[in-house]
Amino acid sequence: MDTSAVRSSPLAPDWLAVPEDLNALQDPMWAAGVERNDAGEVAIDGIPVSELKAQFGTPLFVMSESDFRSRARAFKDAFDAAFADICGGVDVYYAGKSFLCTAVASWVADEGLRLDTCSGGELAVAARAGIPGAKLGLHGNNKSDAEINRALDMELGRIVVDSLDELDRVAKIASSRGETAKVMLRLTPGVHAHTHEFIATAHEDQKFGLSMAGDSTAEAGLSAAEEAVAAATSYAGIELLGLHCHIGSQIFEPDGFELAAEKLLAFQAAMQEKYSIVMPELDLGGGYGIAYTPVDTPRPAAEIAEAMAAVVRSTCARLGIKSPRISIEPGRAIVGSTTFTLYEVGTLKTVRVDAEADAGAGENVTYPRRYVSVDGGMSDNARPVLYDADYSAILASRSSAAEPQLSRVVGKHCESGDIVVRDVYLPADVAAGDLLAVPGTGAYCWALSSNYNYLARPGVVAVRDGAARLIVRGETEEDLLNRDMGVANV
Ligand code: LLP
Repeated sequence: MDTSAVRSSPLAPDWLAVPEDLNALQDPMWAAGVERNDAGEVAIDGIPVSELKAQFGTPLFVMSESDFRSRARAFKDAFDAAFADICGGVDVYYAGKSFLCTAVASWVADEGLRLDTCSGGELAVAARAGIPGAKLGLHGNNKSDAEINRALDMELGRIVVDSLDELDRVAKIASSRGETAKVMLRLTPGVHAHTHEFIATAHEDQKFGLSMAGDSTAEAGLSAAEEAVAAATSYAGIELLGLHCHIGSQIFEPDGFELAAEKLLAFQAAMQEKYSIVMPELDLGGGYGIAYTPVDTPRPAAEIAEAMAAVVRSTCARLGIKSPRISIEPGRAIVGSTTFTLYEVGTLKTVRVDAEADAGAGENVTYPRRYVSVDGGMSDNARPVLYDADYSAILASRSSAAEPQLSRVVGKHCESGDIVVRDVYLPADVAAGDLLAVPGTGAYCWALSSNYNYLARPGVVAVRDGAARLIVRGETEEDLLNRDMGVANV
């Protein structure tokens, strides 16, 4: 039906418009290859969601392998092109924390990217996928001795050191092994990115990184960052590759990245001169935003790359230094939009909520809000609970000509905050047994999933060339019980 005449609910947030066509898959939230087929069903690469449900069950993460590969390549190509004349191209490290399994690690390597890990477990996945250590980085603000040793065993391309304590630890471990660790220093440039805006502050009040502020250590006048550079150059067990920063996540505007690049390059120039060293690399982190709802407007990789290249080019010229080899660490922008979560609808209920009929009219009326419960929830997507994150959803198993109804998609957990999609217009005839698809769940959903309420974590299906295969199987009840020693010991 034409919904343009349907009035939006006063309960809906201002940004949420009544979609013109409730059956349409709105760009840019969906992976390439996801469409509604002639029978009215959402299909990926021609495979209808009902078939995926029949074969793999729900909830299910459905990922497009081709879309993942093309987004990975798009980042690599765009940054290589923009930085070709500056430093011969860019090393793109896919941030494995956003979503990692051996299949994804091998796609990343196939497409010419490297892999950023942040724990021994992520290193284990990379090793199992056969990724050479030279293509890996290791992050983390509290790496264990075992993790540092593992990184050295695997001859990692870089260990990103987060603190003075850790620098000391890495140096000692490497020296005791008669080896040299390749190290980047993670700095906090005082650029706080808040999605659409950033504010520059003098000081970083957070757990990550070495502060660039002047009085942050006992050494009068020396910043922690400078102290680390000085120490790194004096340790036999350390090869200082360069500096690193990561200013935040889900960022749309390039300004924050540009400011951080400028600050780090200025610091690099000062350190190179003062300590007579050359730092050949500079990592500008990840954080590029994606569309979770129709009003999110992510920028194409090429646009971000060109904006950052312009700043690096002009800053290096102004400082009179040769640009270091640049690297970046996108996670969400590569994997986020490749995936939707498929859920089955169970119970429904409608409540009436008080709201002002017309803004400022002062007269309150009650309006309906429908709760649509699905068979997953905060255990497969913790982001709405953790970050108030907004998502979108669509009726996927069929099309509908029913009127739009303001709905809240909720999970099945014993918690009222267990919301999957806070506000979305869905057809009024959505009923038990229908399938809903929530786009944009590739990053930090499966990765943050839990077994809360003893729900089994969903599997992940990868679709390519019209074929679907499990890349991570869903958990079974047996999996849920097999660490319970009472049962195991019977
Ligand atoms: N590099 C470093 C050092 C990071 O800490 C992160 C993310 C990334 C790269 C990748 O950022 P991305 O490009 O994916 O935004 N769980 C939160 C996001 C946490 C981000 C942690 N660090 C969420 O779901 O929004």
